[in-house]
Amino acid sequence: MRVIIVVGARPNFIKVGPLVPALEAAGIACPIVHTGQHYDAAMSDVFFRDLELPKPLWFLGVGSGTHAVQTGTAMMKLEELLQAERPDALMVVGDVNSTLAGALAAVKVQVPVVHLEAGLRSRDMSMPEEVNRLVTDQLSGMLLTPVPEAGENLIAEGIASERIHFVGNIMAESVLRNLTRVADRVPCQEYGLNSGGYVLATVHRPENTGHPERLEAIISALEASPLPVLFPVHPRTRPLLAATGLREAGSRIRLMDPLGYSNVLALQRDAAAIVTDSGGIQEEACMLHTPCVTVRRNTERGITVDVGANRLVSADAEAIEDALSEALTSDRTWELPERWDMEVAHRVGNALLGGVLPLSGV
Ligand code: UD1
Repeated sequence: MRVIIVVGARPNFIKVGPLVPALEAAGIACPIVHTGQHYDAAMSDVFFRDLELPKPLWFLGVGSGTHAVQTGTAMMKLEELLQAERPDALMVVGDVNSTLAGALAAVKVQVPVVHLEAGLRSRDMSMPEEVNRLVTDQLSGMLLTPVPEAGENLIAEGIASERIHFVGNIMAESVLRNLTRVADRVPCQEYGLNSGGYVLATVHRPENTGHPERLEAIISALEASPLPVLFPVHPRTRPLLAATGLREAGSRIRLMDPLGYSNVLALQRDAAAIVTDSGGIQEEACMLHTPCVTVRRNTERGITVDVGANRLVSADAEAIEDALSEALTSDRTWELPERWDMEVAHRVGNALLGGVLPLSGV
C-alpha cells in the first residue's frame, strides 16, 4: 500500500512526526509531499531537522498568497503529481489551506482521501480553517478523528459511520514522543528565566491580527502579567506589533523569532501558563499540564476546556488578565482525553490496512 502524505504548514509537520515510522512499520509506504505553504527556515526547515522527519520527496514551492492563490496553486501542482503517481490514497492532515487543496485535487482524479484530525468544528465560518475542515471532511473516504465528539459532528453532517475511525490525537503522540528528547533542555534559561517563572504567549490568527483593537487588548493584558512573558512571533504578527504601542525596552514582554518544535515544547512544559490563539498549542498545553488561556471567540478544541486545561476568552484586556490570574493559580491535575496517547499512529496504520471506502458513485 502506498499513501502520499501532504504537508504544508507548521502544524502539519508536527503531526506527521510519529506517523511515518508507524505506517512504515505496518508495511505502508508513505512518501511526503510538501506544498511549500510555509517555506522559510524558521517556519519549515527547522521542523524537519528537529523532528528528524524524512525529507519530502516532492516540494511544490507554493509560497504565500491569498487563500485562493495558495489553495489553487497547490491544487494544480498536486493534481499533476497524483496523476503521475496514482497512490492508493492521499492523506491530508489538520485544517490548513494545503489540507483542502490536497482533498480537492485528489477527489477529482479519483484518488481516495484520508483526513487525519477529521470532525473538529468551531462553527465559525469566518475562520478559513473551519471552511477547510468542513469541505475536506465531505470529500474524504476515511475520516480519522481525535475525539469522540468529532465523530458525532461528522455523523450529524451525514458522513457514514463506517468511514469514521476514532484513532485519538496525533498531536498528543508527538508531544509524548518528543518530551524525552527535550528532557535536558531548559530554553527559558537563555532568557534569564527559570521553570515556572514566566508566561508563554503566541498570537497569529487573523481574528486577532486583523483587528488592531484586539491585538492591542492582548498586548495590554500581557503587559499586566504578574510574570515576564516570552512571545515567539509569527511572521504575520511581527509588523503589526509596533502599532499596538508595544515598546520592548522596559516591557514585560520579550519578543522572539519563531521557534522550532523542541524549543516550543520545552517552553510550554516549563511555563507557568500559556496565552495563545493557536489550535495546536491548546492541545499541547493540555498534554503538558500547563494551564492555557485561549483568546478566541470559539474553539474547535472544546475538549481541552471540558477537562479543565483551557479557558476561552474574548480579546478583551480585562477578561484575559482575569483568565490568566485564574490559570496561574489553577491546579494542573486534569485528566487527559481518551486516546491522547502513544498508540495514535498505530491506530491510523490499522485503519488504513482495513482499506479506504470509495465515495459513492466513484
Ligand atoms: C497557517 C494556517 C493556520 C496555522 C498556521 C500555523 C491556513 C488557512 N492557516 O496560517 O491554521 O495555525 O499556518 O503557523 O492554512 N510567512 C512567512 N514565511 C513562511 C510562511 C508564511 O513569512 O514560511 C508569512 C507570509 O507573509 C504569509 C503569512 O506568514 O502571508 C501567513 O502565512 P499563511 O501560510 O498564509 O498562513 P498562516 O497564518 O501561517
